[in-house]
Amino acid sequence: MLGGFILPPTHFILSELGLMRVLILGDVMGRPARRAVRELVPSLKIEERIDLAIANAENAAGGMGVDLKSAGELFAAGVHVLTSGNHIWKKKEIFSYLDTQPNLIRPANYPEGAPGRGWCEWRHPSGLTALVVNIQGRVFMPNHVDDPFRCVDAILKEHGGFSPVVIVDMHAEATSEKSAMGWFLDGRASVVYGTHTHIQTADDRILPNGTAYVTDLGLCGPFDSVIGMEKENVITGFMSQLPRKFAVAEDNVVLQGIIVDIDEQSGRARAIKRLRLHANDRAGS
Ligand SMILES: [Fe+2]
Ligand SMILES: [Fe+2]
Repeated sequence: MLGGFILPPTHFILSELGLMRVLILGDVMGRPARRAVRELVPSLKIEERIDLAIANAENAAGGMGVDLKSAGELFAAGVHVLTSGNHIWKKKEIFSYLDTQPNLIRPANYPEGAPGRGWCEWRHPSGLTALVVNIQGRVFMPNHVDDPFRCVDAILKEHGGFSPVVIVDMHAEATSEKSAMGWFLDGRASVVYGTHTHIQTADDRILPNGTAYVTDLGLCGPFDSVIGMEKENVITGFMSQLPRKFAVAEDNVVLQGIIVDIDEQSGRARAIKRLRLHANDRAGS
């Protein structure tokens, strides 16, 4: 169970309170993480009465990019919406898939003409809805994307009427840029969270106007690694300053992210809790 998190005992009570519970998982790192998602997410959704499950898939295929197989595995495990980031373009087959799969989104602020979309209007048969937005930072990032602040502003103007529940994945390197996005959207988004750096931060909170915020969810994948890659190889790379081929590590796999309770009517977040599940612990439970 989630230590310290006050969980209403049944979904009935959550619904009575008009709360929607959202599970959001950080960057899914290669095969070890996909396996953990497959094995843990279905039961986690039941135990925690999850209404909507989201994961960042930019590293799902071999640690770099996402392909049809890896996206399909995550959807089959019960993830409803996949966001991504700068690595989304690694596997060429994903270009056309992005145009046909509305529940896999890429950062919205790539130049006009990029495949796919940066937002998803998610609608559950029960009537629950959420607007999920993916945006990419510019500080210390390799791509020269458009201004994420003006871009998210424009998306909220165009699509904000779809649902009171607005969830924003800010895929960025700099903590300052992610923090600024949280404050920029406070009161206009239900959740703003960071991805890309793969290290979970401890600043989860609800901002004064009702936006749940955390600077980085942390990766899903090998915890005994350097941001998901085999640590020995990365250390050698830092010491030699010579090019290295990195491989996804496999040891001590975790799922990391947040669970957020959101008022369905107002869109305000009521609770946020960080999540770190060790796959091996769960496998025996
Ligand atoms: Fe990543
Ligand atoms: Fe990234």
